[in-house]
Amino acid sequence: MERMTLVAGIDSSTQSCKVVIRDAETGRLVRQGRASHPDGTEVHPDAWWAALQTAIDQAGGLDDVAAVSVAGQQHGMVVLDENGEVVRPALLWNDTRSAGAAADLIEDLGGGEAGRRAWVDAVGIVPVASFTLTKLRWLARTEPENAARVAAVCLPHDWLTWKLSGARGLDTLRTDRSDASGTLYWSPKTGQYRPDLLELGFGRPIATPEVLSPTGVAGHLPNGAPLGPGAGDNAAAALGAGALPGDVVISIGTSGTVFVASDVAPDDPSGTVAGFADTTGRFLPIVVTLNAARVLDAAVRLLGVDHEQLAKLALSAPAGAGGLVLIPYLEGERTPNRPRATGAIHGLTLRTSDPAHMARAAVEGMLCALADGLDALVRHGATANRVVLIGGGARSEAVRRIAPALFGLPVLVPPPGEYVADGAARQAAWVSLGGDAAPTWTAESPEVYEDAGVPLIREQYAAARDAVIDRPEG
Ligand code: XUL
Repeated sequence: MERMTLVAGIDSSTQSCKVVIRDAETGRLVRQGRASHPDGTEVHPDAWWAALQTAIDQAGGLDDVAAVSVAGQQHGMVVLDENGEVVRPALLWNDTRSAGAAADLIEDLGGGEAGRRAWVDAVGIVPVASFTLTKLRWLARTEPENAARVAAVCLPHDWLTWKLSGARGLDTLRTDRSDASGTLYWSPKTGQYRPDLLELGFGRPIATPEVLSPTGVAGHLPNGAPLGPGAGDNAAAALGAGALPGDVVISIGTSGTVFVASDVAPDDPSGTVAGFADTTGRFLPIVVTLNAARVLDAAVRLLGVDHEQLAKLALSAPAGAGGLVLIPYLEGERTPNRPRATGAIHGLTLRTSDPAHMARAAVEGMLCALADGLDALVRHGATANRVVLIGGGARSEAVRRIAPALFGLPVLVPPPGEYVADGAARQAAWVSLGGDAAPTWTAESPEVYEDAGVPLIREQYAAARDAVIDRPEG
């Protein structure tokens, strides 16, 4: 019997680490493993390493794989000293303490509209608290002793790839285009670092990983298998979900993301659409919210029900929840940029004061924020014929049924799966098999949900959204 070539894909996400091992040629799932990460927006990378070891063990090890790629949560600041030791726990993408530093970086390049334009021209994105450079600036200001020890900065997926390779020198750190494009010091348009901007934020030069091409090799496992360049989780999901032209992917995970692969880098000085790179040498215009699946978790807690009951309740209430609107800024928000805002409930009446209306408002509020993102992508040139809905939140029956009306498009829901880890595995297969593009893997058919058309909900959400302002610092 012919031996299969196996490849491994890893997703080190905010909440957990997943490993999938697949047949490189067909994509067939052979083994998998998973382990949890600690809660919080500040996590020591050692916890990711420990979870990765557990997930690899559960997946039966990596001794027989021909290539591995690591995808991970984006933007997290992993700072290393000159010996390659981690200086302090990483600040994650959803840590908003660097909001002031983000505003200052915009001021540094001229402030207001001019400052935002200058950042977009330089690196395709406008500073918000999520992006790595804002965290470096916060570190330089707030923890000067830690900052003084920093010799290099990298991202979660870079660090895990480096650890898997067993390398120690800072000059052996590697990253890929998709994750480098969320740092504020690398330009997807030119493919070059902007050391001047890194220095502007941190106060002095430090080492950064080399940015690899889509099939570049970041190192090797002890068995000699190459490590692919890896990716930010959204770019990996784009590869894993196998989206076709005209398919906008909306992922409802810890973050909410709306993205599409594109030949053209977007150009949005408002900062709503970020101009990231993808895993194939193209671009990945994306809108990201901080509040997605965990809005549903919060509603579950508030109402004292489980997720299935929440969905049933939401579907038993009328579309638009009788005018009850939940603005889901439970962790502040990034799009729109209101890092210190809190959630809000509008339109509470005696009639809407029951669990069903509240459940419906939670689902609709979370989806309306993503629908705003979809509109922004389209305004910036994306073709949107269909939505491919993935992530934990897509498991909710209410989310699947309500989404088409709010997105105004048919919604395809592929079977629940680890699309980020799958994308990493597909990249590993590309590295292992070679060729001009990642191998095509056959996917199971998605469920399709059609638009039932209830546009009023978007309007009542927009009015309530615009009444929620950011709170002042302090
Ligand atoms: C993307 C972003 C999030 C994280 C979540 O800009 O911040 O989607 O990558 O893991």
